[in-house]
Amino acid sequence: MIIVVTGGAGFVGSHIAEHYAAQGHTVRVVDNLSRATLLGRQDVTFDFNWKYLSEKENIELIRGDVRELDALIPLIDDADAVFHTAAQTAVTTSLENPVPDFMTNALGTFNVLEAVRRSSRKPAVIYCSTNKVYGDNVNAIGTVEKEDRYEFPGEYRLGIPETFSTDLCEHTPYGCSKLTGDIYMQDYAETFGIRAGVFRMSCIYGTRQFGLEDQGWLAWFGIATLLGKPIRIDGDGKQVRDVLFVTDLVDAFDRFLKSDLKHVVVNVGGGPNNAVPIMRVIKLLSEMTDRRSPISYADWRPSDQKVFISDIRKAKKVLGWEPKVSVEEGLEKMVEWIRAHKGVFAF
Ligand SMILES: NC(=O)c1ccc[n+]([C@@H]2O[C@H](COP(=O)([O-])OP(=O)(O)OC[C@H]3O[C@@H](n4cnc5c(N)ncnc54)[C@H](O)[C@@H]3O)[C@@H](O)[C@H]2O)c1
Repeated sequence: MIIVVTGGAGFVGSHIAEHYAAQGHTVRVVDNLSRATLLGRQDVTFDFNWKYLSEKENIELIRGDVRELDALIPLIDDADAVFHTAAQTAVTTSLENPVPDFMTNALGTFNVLEAVRRSSRKPAVIYCSTNKVYGDNVNAIGTVEKEDRYEFPGEYRLGIPETFSTDLCEHTPYGCSKLTGDIYMQDYAETFGIRAGVFRMSCIYGTRQFGLEDQGWLAWFGIATLLGKPIRIDGDGKQVRDVLFVTDLVDAFDRFLKSDLKHVVVNVGGGPNNAVPIMRVIKLLSEMTDRRSPISYADWRPSDQKVFISDIRKAKKVLGWEPKVSVEEGLEKMVEWIRAHKGVFAF
């Protein structure tokens, strides 16, 4: 197969690229290497994955931009599958400047779909959506406060399902731009018969993730702990997230690609068994590394969900998928990788 990965030099994209290249497929990575700029960090470069992939067989690296439809069309024309991971990824940055967020996430996703629609092969397209599409409706269901964590009330103890409303609430610009892409994916699947997998992702973590305070918090906490940098917690640290190790995510994508499903919208996260309060993550990281970062607290972020747990029963039913890597195991792998690459974290 010919597989295009937009944002392939990013965290998730590079794992997808590596996975398919190792199986002998031809992988075309399209990335404009803008992660650092988009996050307002002109002082650093996040080109580690680009260099890492350049040493692998079967991978073609192309400096390209999803905001440019004319450039995308020939790159997608002969593809069998397109993984669309390229994005402005931070909620905070989208609040500071919604324009680049809209241009890459909404227009960029539309361009990918247009290139797919016009291609001669009509490839399957896999979209990295987000749990943020459910917006502040998640907070409206209320939470139960326990000593060390917030929990969902009983009705939602297995998490938020795909049928949960995305309407009539605050989202943040990032939530809006990603939801725009999510809806366009669904529409192009229905209207133009495109095979589309829409994956509403929870917090994904793993190796080769260049987390910062603004995005990729699990990796950031790991990096900060190992490098002895201070950690700021927005809120009280009792907020709960269902976290998923990146190889489990790639497995879910692959199951869709190999299935007979025409299109699907599905939550993909750690689910109730891998839901942890962020203070617990910090404690686990300290235990694993024998280090402790100074911790400070700040206000809650706008629209931040006190609990998010994905209901992943649909993914199990339609894809036969469930997470395999436990939180402890995943954090160990991530810490091991950071420890071996301390030199690349110049931030
Ligand atoms: N990591 C998570 O926890 C998480 C959770 C939910 C959803 N997502 C979604 O998953 C996808 C991948 O996230 P990630 O964590 O790998 O982020 P990442 O920042 O590591 O990767 C994104 C890549 O896209 C590239 N990019 C940005 N704008 C581009 C453009 N205009 N043209 C081409 N390339 C561009 C960046 O250079 C970067 O390499 C994103 O769509 C994100 O919204 C991630």
